Amino acid sequence: MQKKHISPAWLPLVVAIVSVTATLVVWRALRKQEHVQVERVVKLATYSIEADMVADMDIRIRDLADLARLWQIRDQPSKQEFETRATLYISHVPGCVAIGWISPENALKWVVPVDGDIYVRQLLAGSSESVRNKLQSTLQTRSPLVTPTIVLLQDERVVPVWVPVFAGDQFEGFIVGVFRVHPLLDDITSDHSDLGYEVVVTEARRPIYILSNAIPENEWAQEAKIELPGTEWRLRIWPGAKVFPDTLPLSRVVLLGGLIMSLQLSLTAFLGLRERNTAKRIDAVNRELTAENAERRRAEESLHRLSGRLLSLQDEERRRIARELHDSTAQLLYGLTIKLKLLSESLVSSPSQETQALSESMQMADQCVRDIRTISYLLHPPSLDELGLAPALRSLAKGFTERSGIKVDLSLPEDLGRLPRDVETALFRIVQEGLSNVHRHSGSKTARIKVFNAGGEIVLVISDDGKGFPPEILVTSAGLGVGIAGMRERARQLGGRLEIHSSSLGTEVMAILPSQYEKTIRMPVLQM
Ligand SMILES: Nc1ncnc2c1ncn2[C@@H]1O[C@H](COP(=O)(O)OP(=O)(O)OP(=O)(O)O)[C@@H](O)[C@H]1O
Ligand SMILES: [Mg+2]
Repeated sequence: MQKKHISPAWLPLVVAIVSVTATLVVWRALRKQEHVQVERVVKLATYSIEADMVADMDIRIRDLADLARLWQIRDQPSKQEFETRATLYISHVPGCVAIGWISPENALKWVVPVDGDIYVRQLLAGSSESVRNKLQSTLQTRSPLVTPTIVLLQDERVVPVWVPVFAGDQFEGFIVGVFRVHPLLDDITSDHSDLGYEVVVTEARRPIYILSNAIPENEWAQEAKIELPGTEWRLRIWPGAKVFPDTLPLSRVVLLGGLIMSLQLSLTAFLGLRERNTAKRIDAVNRELTAENAERRRAEESLHRLSGRLLSLQDEERRRIARELHDSTAQLLYGLTIKLKLLSESLVSSPSQETQALSESMQMADQCVRDIRTISYLLHPPSLDELGLAPALRSLAKGFTERSGIKVDLSLPEDLGRLPRDVETALFRIVQEGLSNVHRHSGSKTARIKVFNAGGEIVLVISDDGKGFPPEILVTSAGLGVGIAGMRERARQLGGRLEIHSSSLGTEVMAILPSQYEKTIRMPVLQM
């Protein structure tokens, strides 16, 4: 029993869904991993900037505190010393626009540079109550103080750094450093400026510094606190595309590759399915054709059996009619002619009209006897059954020559004995039909009949020197009558075949019988 394959038409769809889902799962996992990686990178950058800011601000505040320590060392430094140290400081610290000494009564005593006094004076004028309170409280701790940024001249945001000055226990006022926020933080973040981050520093939710790379804020933004003595800034940074060119493409490649692969897989499944369906259809057609072929072969076989049976029935019938005609009708007619002869002899003395009619009747009866004998012979020559093929063929050839005037050259093996009855009948009938065709179609004045052994096969050849077969018959077999078909069928019935070789120089019809009859015929092999 043939195995039944189930080919679901939705197989390509299932393949597509499964592979797309698998791709999406892998893509999501990769995205998550990339997310974690990017987040880690941005966090690291945030900590690094934060640490730099805190440390750099600390250095700047400490260096300013060193200036205030001059009063500790020698009550009060000289103005020149102050100016030298302050100028040096300003030259090393970008963004520092002024350093001033303010007396405990809030009067500006010294300032570097000279035109920096405007910053200090405005700062003093703009200091709020809370700033003043904070300053007051530093007198206890004697530690530096960073007060909230303030906008001074021409919209410049500055950050003031205050260091209380003590000469021994004597409060001598404050050293104040005024720093423009932008240059100050630009200097501090300079190491990070080209790393592709947007850096924003806010103070009380108000942005005081933006290091812009024109990157719109995104999901990767990180925050950190910058704690300064007296105030707190918030640092917020987020990366641009420059930060993750190496990581993000992987997931995209996986996504794109996966989708293409899914497409390919489902296409392959679809094509495979189609091919299998086609193969199944071809298989079904093949099976149908095989069944049809077997059926046709069976029909052909039964047709051959039927025609074989018909031929032998025909032979039998001919034999019976021939015997009837010869033994009964011909004998009766013969008797009739004898009686008529006797009657004519008794009437010979008185020639009259009756005698004339009687003589004509006798001639007609004679003709009838001859015709019936000929017909009886053609239907079935008595010599075939009684004497065998060779005498029957000789008699046939002789009679044929007499009737048609065509000379027949008969060549038979000398020791051709008796053959099975059906073989003798078949060969005789083939010769009979062959000679009939020579007479009717060839236009030849001669014919040859030859029987010989060729390599174990028995060959019967009937040839003539006539005009040959019409070419169209040889090419298409159209126009063949019953004669040749009968010859071929007789050869077939004996397991042999019929071959026809014809040209404008003549025709050769060959009946070739298989070797099994060779033993029966026992004849010398003809050298061809
Ligand atoms: N010896 C021959 N020489 C030339 N043509 C021949 C010869 N034998 C047969 N043919 C051609 O082959 C045709 C078919 O011959 P076939 O014996 O089958 O039919 P037929 O003789 O025409 O009719 P029938 O059925 O009475 O025999 C003939 O009509 C004739 O054209
Ligand atoms: Mg014929």
